[in-house]
Amino acid sequence: MLTEEEIQQQVAKLAEQINQDYPEGELIVVGILKGCFVFVSDLVRKLNADVKVHFMQVSSYGDGTVSTGKIQIKKDLEVDIEGKHLLLAEDIIDSGHTLSQLLPILQERKPASIKVCTLLSKPSRRQVEFEADYTGFEIPDEFIVGYGLDCGESFRQLPYIAVVDIEE
Ligand code: IMP
Ligand code: MG
Repeated sequence: MLTEEEIQQQVAKLAEQINQDYPEGELIVVGILKGCFVFVSDLVRKLNADVKVHFMQVSSYGDGTVSTGKIQIKKDLEVDIEGKHLLLAEDIIDSGHTLSQLLPILQERKPASIKVCTLLSKPSRRQVEFEADYTGFEIPDEFIVGYGLDCGESFRQLPYIAVVDIEE
């Protein structure tokens, strides 16, 4: 669906936008594991702010491909985010459940600001309304893998993004 080159160009564009909004000062980048790990590593290397990288793991998916709706925090932040500027980095926004439930949890911890950056978004799949502040690509309703995204934990290492033919 997306070549390595297309992805790299778009990550650079996202970084440019983020650099305009956060030219300096501390920025806590919070990657939402596991799918984000490739995106985060490419993105942060293009940012100019004083970036600190942290991760959370949230699940609503299990090993399948269908969202169960309710999220569960499997790994929480290990830092106090009060008064800090946060940039959440997601691989993909699908139903919207993960971020729409995670954001209020993080807001309660009183950060100075929270913005969301996602490499990919499937707008036609939303079950709850959610729009990221920075979106790399809007894609059609296909199950995709690569560049960190998996199907049953496989294919995360692909440098490009491909559509999976799911046989029921
Ligand atoms: P949401 O809560 O439905 O928005 O789900 C977001 C999460 O679902 C993402 O962070 C991914 O981990 C996973 N996900 C959604 N669509 C795909 C896909 O096409 N391929 C792989 N993972 C996906
Ligand atoms: Mg994810």
